[in-house]
Amino acid sequence: MSFDGKVAIVTGAASGIGLATAKRLARDGARVAIWDLNEAGAAAAADDIRQAGGQAIASRVDVSRRDQVDAAVQQAHTQFGAIGILVNNAGITLFRSFMEMDEETWDKVISVNLKSMLVCTQAVLPDMLQAKWGRVINVSSSSAQTGSAQMSCYAASKGGVIAFTKALAQEVASSGITVNNVPPGFVDTPMLRGSPIGSVVDQVAAASPMKRAGRPEDMAAAIAFLASEDAGYITGHTLSVNGGRYSN
Ligand SMILES: NC(=O)c1ccc[n+]([C@@H]2O[C@H](COP(=O)([O-])OP(=O)(O)OC[C@H]3O[C@@H](n4cnc5c(N)ncnc54)[C@H](O)[C@@H]3O)[C@@H](O)[C@H]2O)c1
Repeated sequence: MSFDGKVAIVTGAASGIGLATAKRLARDGARVAIWDLNEAGAAAAADDIRQAGGQAIASRVDVSRRDQVDAAVQQAHTQFGAIGILVNNAGITLFRSFMEMDEETWDKVISVNLKSMLVCTQAVLPDMLQAKWGRVINVSSSSAQTGSAQMSCYAASKGGVIAFTKALAQEVASSGITVNNVPPGFVDTPMLRGSPIGSVVDQVAAASPMKRAGRPEDMAAAIAFLASEDAGYITGHTLSVNGGRYSN
């Protein structure tokens, strides 16, 4: 796949799926802006990409904060040019019984996982509308497809991501911009390892259809496809990448 001449932003790219995606897009020629709350991790990711011969810049960005997002888009635009690809990947997970959920925690998860779609996507759409070309790929979750106990808030936020994807896809389809989402299912990242099932990843993997957990690179490959020219007639789609754990 070639992304020569394209500028991509990948959020949450200091770790896991975002890191693999940033490396994949850069390997295939994109100039990549690495955004993350984790400033040192973002800088290290950009260093890795540059050492491998790619082009990357790093910014500390909270994706739920419009002021930070707008400033980072400006920086990417100035250094690399118009933004053509946005991967809305940053997210936080939460396992908690519904009756123990408080409003502050609910608002925080919705803000990072769902409001980020508003502020990040609005910030790059002017470039895409002007170019009459754009790719927005949102990372949702299989928990929004299947439901998942102890994850009502997280699943609600990711269900919102899927619905947002479908709605925006229709709104911008005639402008050459596609909007799709990829729901990971059981991908071996620091997020999964830090979750309540983190201590039994190998057992759960052994019981799954492919007898392994997903790899961040599995997700990156699907995201890269949706970002490519070849995927130009695909929009509003949910591309499940879960090793057969769930079929939709
Ligand atoms: N790993 C899985 O099995 C799995 C399953 C379903 C969905 N997901 C989703 O995939 C995406 C990536 O998850 P991952 O497993 O790679 O997790 P991860 O924790 O390894 O990486 C997430 C990154 O997002 C960053 N981040 C968190 N809040 C942020 C904010 N407000 N602003 C900017 N950056 C922020 C973190 O610092 C981290 O570097 C998330 O949206 C997650 O919900 C993952």
